[in-house]
Amino acid sequence: MSAELLPPDAAGLARAAEMLRDGGLVAFPTETVYGLGADATSDRAVARVFEAKGRPRFNPLIIHLPDIAAARRVARFGDAAERLADAFWPGALTLVLPLRPEAGLSPLVSAGLPTVALRVPDHPMAQGLLAAFGGPVVGPSANPSGSVSPTRAAHVLAGLGDRIAAVVDGGPCAVGVESTIVGTDPAPTLLRPGGLPVEAIEACLGAPLASRGAEAGVTAPGQLSSHYAPGAQVVLEASTPPSGALWLGFGPGCDGATLNLSPSGDLVEAAANLFHALRELDARAAPGQPIAVAPVPDHGLGRAINDRLRRAAAPRD
Ligand code: TXA
Ligand code: MG
Repeated sequence: MSAELLPPDAAGLARAAEMLRDGGLVAFPTETVYGLGADATSDRAVARVFEAKGRPRFNPLIIHLPDIAAARRVARFGDAAERLADAFWPGALTLVLPLRPEAGLSPLVSAGLPTVALRVPDHPMAQGLLAAFGGPVVGPSANPSGSVSPTRAAHVLAGLGDRIAAVVDGGPCAVGVESTIVGTDPAPTLLRPGGLPVEAIEACLGAPLASRGAEAGVTAPGQLSSHYAPGAQVVLEASTPPSGALWLGFGPGCDGATLNLSPSGDLVEAAANLFHALRELDARAAPGQPIAVAPVPDHGLGRAINDRLRRAAAPRD
């Protein structure tokens, strides 16, 4: 059976909330990417998320909450976490904080870790769904594990349409890359660059973020090298059109590019276009034809864009 496409209105959200209460999986729009929603307190519902995504069980899930008050009931906030939540929620920031075991989340959510990843999304449909459901909602990106995250309802249907109950159609996601993930224990640490620029976080804290050393080991596929991968081979730093390849441009110097992430060189626009462009080129590529990508500056949202591009280009297992 294929997923229902629900309209972005009160009736659609009420139906989506009812499906969540029944233990069903409902994809929903956020400002970053579409999330795969399920009742975070239900083992059965959370287990279905892992199954639908083909996601390894050691990889924990993000929880979506309506506001910081609800988040404080699920995790313990220190000073840095309070300051970041106050500055950037609702928004494209996920905080990894010590889990309150009494919060009643399914233990599958945090995959045995003593921490939990929390986000308060800044999207009226995500907020509407959280209000209609009235509890914490898990929300990994709504794509099969290892593939490109969805930024439109059609992307969700293409990847998971036969494995979920419904998707709330909120149109294209404004930010287009996943949230920035920050842990605070023992010091504020960047776990994944994303839709909130690192520079803004560091300005808020008045100090640079630590970054997770490679020796810390892999705790998340988002940190595995091959991830966000389209089917075609991806080649980076292509400042001239390589013969035989499709060319994904960035900025004004890319005449002849097959697609351009942002003809004016705007990183915010490029982030919003990134995943749709990768899907589009993947669909257009002839068998064996690579996708070459122009250089993207490594600041602001460029950090998240380059992170996702490097993973898309990494050797496959
Ligand atoms: O923007 C986003 O964050 C989207 C939207 C839908 O909210 N969600 C998203 O979820 O990207 P997901 O599951 O695809 O990526 C979340 C990442 C994963 O790499 C996961 O391993 C990591 O967060 N994560 C979750 N809980 C964690 C924890 N306790 N410690 C460290 N990393 C954690
Ligand atoms: Mg993901």
